[in-house]
Amino acid sequence: MHQPVRKLSSVVIGILVACLLAAGPALAGNGGIAPVTPNSPNAHAITDSYWFITGFVVFVFVGVEGLLVAFVVKYRRGKRPRDADGPQIHGSSRLEAMWTAIPVAILVAVAAFVFVKLPGIKNVPSANAAGGRLEVTVTGQQFFWEFTYPNGAVAVDRLRVPVGQPVHLTVTAPDFDVIHSWWIPALGGKIDAIPGRLNHTWFTATKAGVYSGRCAELCGVQHAVMLMTVQAMPRAEFEHWVTEREQQQASGTAKGTLGEETFTGACAACHGLAGQGVVGPQISQSGTLQDKAALTSLLRNGQGEMPPVGKAWNQDQIDALHAYVKERFGGQ
Ligand code: CUA
Repeated sequence: MHQPVRKLSSVVIGILVACLLAAGPALAGNGGIAPVTPNSPNAHAITDSYWFITGFVVFVFVGVEGLLVAFVVKYRRGKRPRDADGPQIHGSSRLEAMWTAIPVAILVAVAAFVFVKLPGIKNVPSANAAGGRLEVTVTGQQFFWEFTYPNGAVAVDRLRVPVGQPVHLTVTAPDFDVIHSWWIPALGGKIDAIPGRLNHTWFTATKAGVYSGRCAELCGVQHAVMLMTVQAMPRAEFEHWVTEREQQQASGTAKGTLGEETFTGACAACHGLAGQGVVGPQISQSGTLQDKAALTSLLRNGQGEMPPVGKAWNQDQIDALHAYVKERFGGQ
């Protein structure tokens, strides 16, 4: 009678140990469980909180499921008659106190840890900090991200920043648009881009490189193509880029940079990279691309299903886009 029970128990325990052993490599090799490697202090704090909570989650899961399986085996009916009563059990104060105290202790530990980490996640570093901080306005629109730098330079879908300098993002959306969500996992948590509201977040890229993310709020039919990247580069390189971009815009020579970015980010999301039409109509043959006044009016006012994507764009951006599409689609 007791021999098979012991045999089965050891099988169950063996399976549980195997599961735990398998969990180690799965966690180390990011099998979809581990967050991306953080590369900003706030992203580090988020990842720390994640692992702290995951520890308890695993403990509770293995404890509860392990006991469940063990009890199913240990207290199964076996050869007892079907109508025989099981043993009569009265309360166990010690056990009840334990299953109250342990969850309370876990919740207190989780809350305390998160409250300790929260300021490091949420609070934007002071503007007076050593090295200063870069201010960028991030505007989410169907279906692209627009970045405006303090000197007036504009970029679409790729945010260039200096390595090691705090970047303060003011995240918003135009009043004719919908809610989007800014999220570069390696550089911190999500923040919503809400029409008419200014939200704030930050990051400090600790390593040069390109970090990718995507709009994290369902915002319309082309939500899935609303991708963005942050490129962190040495400070001197960044200063050179941002100055050059501003000069190109002012002198009307930004067609190959801002013009192309704007077409690829804003227009191509709906009309296709070749203007062949996707959810929006084909535009590659459209005379509007050649006619600056018509293009400006379309961008500023929208038409039919097309939102007024360029309502808030400065004239430099419209000029750059027009110069780009005029050359690219001209003479067809
Ligand atoms: Cu913007 Cu989803």
